[in-house]
Amino acid sequence: STHPINIAIDGPAGAGKSTVARHVASRLHYIYVDTGAMYRAVTCIALDRGMSPDDEAGVGQLAQTLDLVLLPGEDGQKVLVDGIDVAARIRSHEVNRNVSRVSAIGAVRTRMADLQRRMAQAKGVVMDGRDIGTHVLPDAELKIFLTASPRERALRRYRELGDGAGATLDQLERDIAERDRMDRERDIAPLIQAPDARLIDSTGRSIEDIVDEIVDGGLAAARTISAGET
Ligand code: CDP
Ligand code: CDP
Repeated sequence: STHPINIAIDGPAGAGKSTVARHVASRLHYIYVDTGAMYRAVTCIALDRGMSPDDEAGVGQLAQTLDLVLLPGEDGQKVLVDGIDVAARIRSHEVNRNVSRVSAIGAVRTRMADLQRRMAQAKGVVMDGRDIGTHVLPDAELKIFLTASPRERALRRYRELGDGAGATLDQLERDIAERDRMDRERDIAPLIQAPDARLIDSTGRSIEDIVDEIVDGGLAAARTISAGET
């Protein structure tokens, strides 16, 4: 019997993080934590309350006091705000357009990272996001930085939405590129590969292939390293 470890999966939008993380978690009987859903939930509630994403003080205060709970489950994850599941509402175009501005607010990030670290305390967690390997769980035993070409990431979103759901492939590619730019250029915990993360380019590769590489290759290496350290 092996000790559970924590696995951090970071990368740009549409790289396949959540799909891959969910499969890795299910193979290992670990818990999957989607940190993007938390930033999306804060954004969703801020918009509900008519706040501007540029109102740093107001949105920061909201994030600090919000009753936010992530409940991992068999048929997807529940995102509870004041006990009400908002998971179905956090993938909207409105949230997509505003989430990177909300995520740049320091007080928002501090609260989210605090909640995320608590969820990972008992280990056996696969957590995906932008700053998991660099800031939230710098001691995670296995870190993956997952990427794919911008065109392929846009194409995946296009297919996921069912022929774009009104948006063209070019529009989706521009939206993704803009969100990535904001995530990479923000001052606090920007999107960047951790020096000790394993880079995986998923362009042209199947989900199963990536999951195998992480579970069979990455995990074995991580276990050897942690065993050697003790
Ligand atoms: O699934 P997708 O790649 O479209 O995005 P997501 O993982 O749901 O994250 C949505 C947004 O939340 C990102 O574009 C970031 O602005 C923010 N985010 C973050 O700042 N830090 C994280 N650890 C996770 C998400
Ligand atoms: O979480 P992130 O934004 O990084 O990506 P995702 O939501 O997991 O993946 C976006 C879409 O790409 C999903 O519809 C996946 O099924 C698909 N995908 C793929 O076609 N091939 C991969 N190797 C990974 C994901």
